[in-house]
Amino acid sequence: MSRPKISLIGGGQIGGNLALLAAQKELGDIVIFDIPKVEGMVKGKALDLMQLRPHDGYDANITGTSDWNDVKDSDVFIITAGIPRKPGMDREDLLEINLGIMKDVAANIKKQAPQSFVIVISNPLDAMVYAFYKVSGFPKNQVVGMAGALDSARFRTFIAMETGLSVQDVTCMVLGGHGDTMVPITRLATVGGVPVTDLISAERLAEIEHRTRFAGGEIVKLFGNGSAFYAPAQSAIEMAESYLRDKKRVIPCASLCTGEFGIDGYFIGVPTVIGTGGVEKILEFQLTDDEQVELNNTLEVVKKTVKETGL
Ligand code: APR
Repeated sequence: MSRPKISLIGGGQIGGNLALLAAQKELGDIVIFDIPKVEGMVKGKALDLMQLRPHDGYDANITGTSDWNDVKDSDVFIITAGIPRKPGMDREDLLEINLGIMKDVAANIKKQAPQSFVIVISNPLDAMVYAFYKVSGFPKNQVVGMAGALDSARFRTFIAMETGLSVQDVTCMVLGGHGDTMVPITRLATVGGVPVTDLISAERLAEIEHRTRFAGGEIVKLFGNGSAFYAPAQSAIEMAESYLRDKKRVIPCASLCTGEFGIDGYFIGVPTVIGTGGVEKILEFQLTDDEQVELNNTLEVVKKTVKETGL
């Protein structure tokens, strides 16, 4: 049986780290695709990564290309193609340029690998994953957006930093759109099963929620010329691994809702089961009235951006 084939569309900051992490987890053979202008860069990254493997003995073949034929019959795609934010920009400011790129990418993936599982990372995320879905015509279980996994990891990080306890034992989820209106479900956050509301004051928790909502922007400001890449890459790799190894992990992902949480026809962050069937299930649960109001609010923001795609 041959190894799975994972194609990374966009070989920039996130793309390079996706390749590294996928190789280290031995998820399969990896193709890094980018535009002809930077073909040398992705070929170079691929060679560099090939030469990293002997120390720990990762068996993965890594190549760089700008030829769509090379991604033929891939099992998984992870899309980061597009431009990242600069200081002062919202994710929505990327829409026009990244939408054009996403349309091109979706048409090519449909042609090369219509059975594949596709994880979208490009921003504005909720609109980009919608655009991929519409243009490709893929079934809804084959398309998912990476956002909640990252936003939840950020929330977990800040809770661990606040309590001084192991990040491994912090469980929580952030739902909704991948923007400042995202919804941290603090009520259900725990450290080793103990509710965070018993460990951290309400005032500090509100500050942590705020930092989580703006965590991407905090990094954009520090970098000065791009956005986060290590944690976004790791978050998407967790999703790819759950698919390839049928782990059935429950990860907050931008999945197409068809009535769940009162949302219909939009991709938005909800607890999602990922396994061999792709997006196998959305785990719906009872929100409080306040949480539902916040979710409806974030949905309106997503709807507005999706409308601007004209799709
Ligand atoms: N096909 C393939 N790759 C493309 C295309 C295209 N049509 N257009 C641009 N790219 C490539 C760029 O050449 C670049 O190498 O996408 C890559 C993006 O990499 P970076 O600029 O380093 O951006 P990165 O930090 O990886 O973020 C990518 O993810 O989180 C989001 O907001 C972020 O939309 C951005 C995306």
